[in-house]
Amino acid sequence: MWNTLHNREVILAGGSGGLGAATAELLACEQARLTISYYSQADRAQRLASLGKVVRADLRSASDRLALLQEAPHLYGLVVFTGDPARPADPSAWEETLRRALEVNYLGPIQLAREAASRMQASGTEGSIVLFSTMQANALFAGSTAYAAAKAALQHAARILAKELRGKPNIRVNVVAPGVTAAGMAESSIRSGKYDHLLASGVIPRFGRAADVARAVRFFLEPDNYITGQVLCVDGGATL
Ligand SMILES: NC(=O)c1ccc[n+]([C@@H]2O[C@H](COP(=O)([O-])OP(=O)(O)OC[C@H]3O[C@@H](n4cnc5c(N)ncnc54)[C@H](OP(=O)(O)O)[C@@H]3O)[C@@H](O)[C@H]2O)c1
Repeated sequence: MWNTLHNREVILAGGSGGLGAATAELLACEQARLTISYYSQADRAQRLASLGKVVRADLRSASDRLALLQEAPHLYGLVVFTGDPARPADPSAWEETLRRALEVNYLGPIQLAREAASRMQASGTEGSIVLFSTMQANALFAGSTAYAAAKAALQHAARILAKELRGKPNIRVNVVAPGVTAAGMAESSIRSGKYDHLLASGVIPRFGRAADVARAVRFFLEPDNYITGQVLCVDGGATL
């Protein structure tokens, strides 16, 4: 299976974060041609410059999404890592948090996926789109409404898109839903002990690693993959 991504253009939107960086490293081993986007942390993103082109894009902005897609005129793969855990600073900011969560976790990623798919269709290119959800969209965690409901909407929209796109050219759309992974946005929560109870009670055998997630993305990017419209939970069994 390996090396089938050689020279293929893949955009990793929000790929400068913990899970994106591990995926970029894996795909760079095959010499995939990567475009990696970030939003606010330019220094963190620039650490990946040896693996591909690094560009800034706010996925909430239509013009930024267009500029990002123009970086990869022969796009084969789109992976959208972009996400925001949307923890409200204080209860009075609840409505604003809800709006931000929907824009960053749902609107931006699904719009980018639709726009990428249109370009693939127009050029008759087969391709693979991978979107990012969370275990919190697949089981109920108190306090997660803003984040989890937006991700659940993304999962549903991704499956609709997969249905709309099946056929020729074959453009597949799948979702990866990580559990508690020791990278990126969950790192500080893990350090604080927030999820230790999952280990102590034997719900999960260990915390996830970024490489666990990168391998799932690679699986969906495989050109000969026959799977579309699926949500793959990479969570060590947390949502069972
Ligand atoms: N880590 C986990 O345990 C875990 C668990 C479940 C689900 N997930 C999901 O997995 C995905 C990747 O997570 P991660 O841990 O790698 O997170 P991360 O390190 O926080 O990375 C998030 C990425 O999204 C970008 N981003 C944030 N707001 C954006 C916006 N408005 N427009 C464009 N990009 C934006 C960030 O850019 P800047 O940093 O430059 O702002 C960064 O590249 C997310 O969708 C997350 O919900 C992660």
